[in-house]
Amino acid sequence: MKKIYLHPLPIRIWHWINAGSFLILIVTGLQIRYRELLGLMKFQVAVDIHNIFGFILIFNFFIWLIFYIFTGKIKIYIPPLNLKKFVMGCINQARYYGYGIFMGEENPHHSSPDNKFNPMQQMAYLSIMLLLIPLQLVSGLLLWDIKQFAGWINLAGGIKIVDTIHVFLFLFFTSFLFVHVYLATLGHTATAHIKAMFTGYEEIEGHGH
Ligand code: HEM
Repeated sequence: MKKIYLHPLPIRIWHWINAGSFLILIVTGLQIRYRELLGLMKFQVAVDIHNIFGFILIFNFFIWLIFYIFTGKIKIYIPPLNLKKFVMGCINQARYYGYGIFMGEENPHHSSPDNKFNPMQQMAYLSIMLLLIPLQLVSGLLLWDIKQFAGWINLAGGIKIVDTIHVFLFLFFTSFLFVHVYLATLGHTATAHIKAMFTGYEEIEGHGH
């Protein structure tokens, strides 16, 4: 076993505030939408908590953004520009998750601080961080005060469009969470990757080279 320092402190802080806020936003969002069905708390309480954690998520996003812009490490998120390399990398990785892992094969991707993500992670994380989360934050901000932001809402195509975007992204993030947490349990032990997101250090089996 050797240890590599994979997750810098600002990213660990960002990640767990992000994960906790997402869970709270999902529960309070469901409560807002299905108030009779769920009955976990009063409607207004759900709205207030949802708004508070919405703003926490917005500020937290800037921890991630500022860290990656100022360290220049954002390149770990960029998939290989060579299309063949990218497609083959994705196929290899998907084959591992769907087949190789059950045959005791080793993960085709070996993480290091400069090459942390496999091509599938790069594609997923890049679109999540630079497109889907910003869209969710902006649509949420507009819905937070529809009178104040009436002009912007109209520009985006009206309240139905903004609300549909917000709900579709909720569906995406909720599904992503299941896949993400499942994949997070596939380290050398079920909790290895998750521990690493707390300590910063990932334990990996030495490959003798
Ligand atoms: C309780 C739920 C969660 C758990 C247990 C979890 C677990 C993990 C673990 C173990 C890693 C490190 C392995 C890797 O880099 O893939 C990771 C990274 C990551 N997770 Fe999560 N996660 C959770 C929720 C979320 C949510 C809600 C999001 C976004 C919507 C998210 C986005 C990310 C991103 C973007 C990374 C890469 C961060 C970086 O190194 O720059 N995670 N997560």
